[in-house]
Formats: sequence, structure tokens, C-alpha cells
Amino acid sequence: MRIDSTVYVPAVSRQAAYLDWLQMFSGICLIIFMYLHALFVASIIFGTGAFNTLADFFEDYYLVQTGGPVIVLIFLVHFILAARKIPFSSGQQKTLWVQSRQLAHRDTWLWVVQVASAMIILLMGSIHMWVVLTDLPITADKSAARIQSGFWLTFFLILLPLVELHVGIGWYRLGVKWGLIKSKARNKVKRFEYYFTGFFILLGLVTLIRFLFVKI
Ligand code: HEM
Repeated sequence: MRIDSTVYVPAVSRQAAYLDWLQMFSGICLIIFMYLHALFVASIIFGTGAFNTLADFFEDYYLVQTGGPVIVLIFLVHFILAARKIPFSSGQQKTLWVQSRQLAHRDTWLWVVQVASAMIILLMGSIHMWVVLTDLPITADKSAARIQSGFWLTFFLILLPLVELHVGIGWYRLGVKWGLIKSKARNKVKRFEYYFTGFFILLGLVTLIRFLFVKI
């Protein structure tokens, strides 16, 4: 009897690498956007005049009208690319949890935080962008009215730390993955990342408090 010993080796494909590059590129775009966004929104700290001047500038040059939808697109593409690695089924999630506990490795836990925060950010970020972009122009009064209503304050108090954690862990993990942060430097960079993230969460909180004091 002749046994067919053909072994099927999958054709070499660079698709996974290209998708990883695209995921990194979309991630970097969103990281830069989120830090700039935090600084722009924080202009309210200097008063409604500063906030409105910035908002007018972005709208006069159609940066909100064109940039807004581009960010929405990058946001969705980034999620679809990341979804390749996200454990969606309860079985996969259980395995992730058990193995993370077994490994007891901080960088593995950081990844778990990133995956969990991603789900909530996807939903809340989409809602927020929809609300802002379908109610242009952006003005300090409108933003303040939203935040003073209470609902959006709670909304941002949840979204803000999740986004900052996700973005901070995101650039740290990108640096490790692509070899920019060497093993020896990991702890130092990680500590810097914690302070950096803490600073942006604090800035966001001050921004929200400042909105509460805007007279409408
Ligand atoms: C085109 C995209 C975006 C625009 C034009 C925009 C605009 C704004 C504006 C005007 C505010 C002030 C509050 C308000 O008016 O409701 C705000 C706050 C905020 N946005 Fe966005 N946003 C965008 C995307 C995002 C994304 C993608 C996220 C995160 C997923 C995000 C997270 C936040 C957070 C956390 C706050 C609270 C501000 C703080 O405490 O610093 N935004 N945004």
C-alpha cells in the first residue's frame, strides 16, 4: 500500500506582517491625535475665548470637517486590525485570564488592560465623535452645556482614564514590539509612561472641572 506523504506547506505570505504594520501606523496616528486632542480641549483652562479661537481655526480651515471623518475611519480600521488578536469567545477569554495569572508578567497584564479598554473605547469613542461631529460648530458653550448636564461628565470620567491608559500602554508596547525599547530600558520607560499617562489624566480632569465653571 502506498501512503501519500505529501505535506502541505502554506505558501509564504507577508499579509500578516503588512497588517501588523498597518495596525502600528493607525495606532501611531491615533496616539498623536489623542495627545493633541487633549491639549486642544484643555485650552478651555485659559477661558472660552482660547477654546473658541482654536475651534474656529480648525473649522475655518475645514480641519474638523475633513479631519473628523478621517479620524473616525482610522479609529474603525485600527479596531478591525486589532480584532485579529482580540479573544472574543468566552473560552479564549478564560484561557487569557488563566495564562495571564500563571505568567504573572506585568507586560502581559498591560496587554489585557489594552484589550479590555479597547472594547469600551470603541463604543464610547464612536458615540462621542458622532455627537460632536453631527453638532458642528464646536463651541465652548455647547461643550460646557454637555458636561454640565451631568451625563457627559460621567461619560468622560469613564472614557478619559481608559483612553489615556490605552494610548500610553499602546506606545510603550509598540516600542517593545519593534525593538525600540530594549529589555534593560523597559522598567525605566514604563515608569515614564505611568507619569506621562498620569499627567494626561490629570489634565483631562482639570479640563472637565474647568468646563463645569463656564457660565452659559
Ligand atoms: C473627530 C474627532 C473628535 C473631535 C472633533 C472631538 C472633540 C471633542 C470636544 C469638542 C470635546 C469637549 C467636550 C464636548 O464637546 O463634548 C471633547 C472631549 C473629549 N474627547 Fe473628544 N473629539 C474627538 C475624538 C475623540 C476620541 C476618538 C476620543 C477617545 C476615544 C475622545 C475622547 C474625549 C475625551 C475623554 C474628552 C473629555 C475631555 C477631557 O477631559 O480632556 N475624543 N472632544
